[in-house]
Amino acid sequence: MKILNALMGLAVAVAAATVSANAADYTTEMVWQEMVGKDGSIHMPKADFRRDWPVLGTWALTGDDGKVTGQHVVYSQRSTIDAFRATGEFPDGAVLIKELLLAQSASLTTGEAAWATEISGWFVMIKDRKNRFPKNQLWGKGWGWAYFGAEDKTTSPTKSFRAECMGCHVPAKKEDWIYSYAYPVLAKK
Ligand code: HEC
Repeated sequence: MKILNALMGLAVAVAAATVSANAADYTTEMVWQEMVGKDGSIHMPKADFRRDWPVLGTWALTGDDGKVTGQHVVYSQRSTIDAFRATGEFPDGAVLIKELLLAQSASLTTGEAAWATEISGWFVMIKDRKNRFPKNQLWGKGWGWAYFGAEDKTTSPTKSFRAECMGCHVPAKKEDWIYSYAYPVLAKK
């Protein structure tokens, strides 16, 4: 009986480890099944990416008075980091999520410090190395592009990445449209 219990405990532990490994890794296959519709529509991941995915980097935005008023936190899968470190390129199915947060600042014991407060939305990019949706306006330049407001995580209001995203990403064109210099975790070890 003891052995049986021990075995069952082991099975549960293995199952739990598998689930969390999947959630943390979010393989290419899962991305194409879950985050992209047959028509090329883009969806947020079901995974708790804020908990399970590594942060590539953060940006602080300041108002006219120099105070930090916003923070952007960029997440991706661990497997994307591994692939980028090995090849210097984003692999097919790489997902980058930029979370937009408001921020507040105050004089703390460390000095003037700012911290993130409410989420206002997410910008999502999915790497497509196969040009899967040549006619869909959310896809092009090797990526799928979409924005989601915090009030509606299920439907993206983005209609055209060329009109709504691309222009602002031109300065990062040479780095595959991504501001990757701000993501030191991508550098080779
Ligand atoms: C007003 C200019 C602007 C627009 C419009 C814009 N972006 Fe960006 N985006 C940036 C800048 C600048 C960064 C990096 C610095 C920052 O976040 O402040 C960035 C970063 C990102 C990131 C994090 C990865 C990276 O490139 O560093 C994602 C993902 C992203 N944008 C997706 C989108 C999508 C999708 C759209 C359209 C729906 C879009 N962006 C529209 C300027 C813009």
